[in-house]
Amino acid sequence: MNIVPAAKIEKMRPDFGASQPLYVQIADRLRDLIIKGEVSVGDTLPSERSLQDLTGTSRVTIRKAISQLVSEGFLLSRRGVGTSIAAHIEQSGERLTGFTSDAVDRGEKPGTFWLHKVAAKPTSHEAQMLEIASNELVLRLGRVRLANKEPLAIEHAVVPADLVDGLHAIESSLYDALGVAGNAPITGTQKIGASDATAIEAGLLAISEGDSVLRIERHTYRADGRAVEYTRSVYRADRYLFVSELRREPKRTPLSD
Ligand code: GLP
Repeated sequence: MNIVPAAKIEKMRPDFGASQPLYVQIADRLRDLIIKGEVSVGDTLPSERSLQDLTGTSRVTIRKAISQLVSEGFLLSRRGVGTSIAAHIEQSGERLTGFTSDAVDRGEKPGTFWLHKVAAKPTSHEAQMLEIASNELVLRLGRVRLANKEPLAIEHAVVPADLVDGLHAIESSLYDALGVAGNAPITGTQKIGASDATAIEAGLLAISEGDSVLRIERHTYRADGRAVEYTRSVYRADRYLFVSELRREPKRTPLSD
C-alpha cells in the first residue's frame, strides 16, 4: 500500500480567506482528487501530523474533514492501519449474476487463478446441500477471482457433475458452462456475514491477515427447483458493498370473517 504523496496533499490546502469552513474545503478538495482518480484506491493518507503540516491546518480541521469523507464512503478509517482511499464495488444483493458477467458489466477484465478443479464424491454435507445421493459425482471448483488482475474473492463452488459437460467445459465462467448445458441457475439464496481474513486467505487476496472479509454462502437452483450450486466465498470487505433494494410491504389486515 502506498502513501498519498505530499504533493497531492498540498493541493488540499484551503483558502484561509474564504468564508467556507476549512474542513469543508479540505474535504471538497480531497473528494475531488479521489473522483478524478488523482489518488489511488487503497492508498493511505499520511499521518494526522503531516496532514496538518502540509495543509497548514489544525488537528480538529483534519479530523472533521476525514470523518466527513468517511461518512460519505470516500475514505476508510481503520484503527492501527490508518485512513485509506475507499472504492467499493456496489453489488446487487438480489440479482442472480456471476462474477464474470458482473466484472464485464463494470468494464473490467475478469480473471481466474485456479486453486483446484476436480471431480469427486461429495462429502455428506455437500450431498445434503445439493440434494444428491452420496454416490453421485460433484465438481469442486476452487478459484481466486480477479478483476483487472486485482484479486477480489476466493470461491469454493460445488456443482453436481451431470449439470455441466465435463470439467473442461468450465473455463472462466461456471454460469456460462451451466447455461450451455441448459442448467443455468434461476433462483437462489445467499447469506453474507462479516469475518476476518485468515493468513492463507489474506495471502490469496493481497490483504493483511485479520482484515475484514465477507463470507458468502450461495445456493442456486434451476427453474425446476433442482439444486445447481453450493458455493462458499470470501470477498474483500474493503472492495465490496452489497446493496439491496427495499420495498415496504402493504400492511396486512387481519382476516375478518
Ligand atoms: C459469484 C457467486 C458464486 C458463483 C459465481 C459464478 O461469484 N458468488 O456463487 O458461483 O458468481 O461466476 P462465474 O460464472 O464467473 O464462474
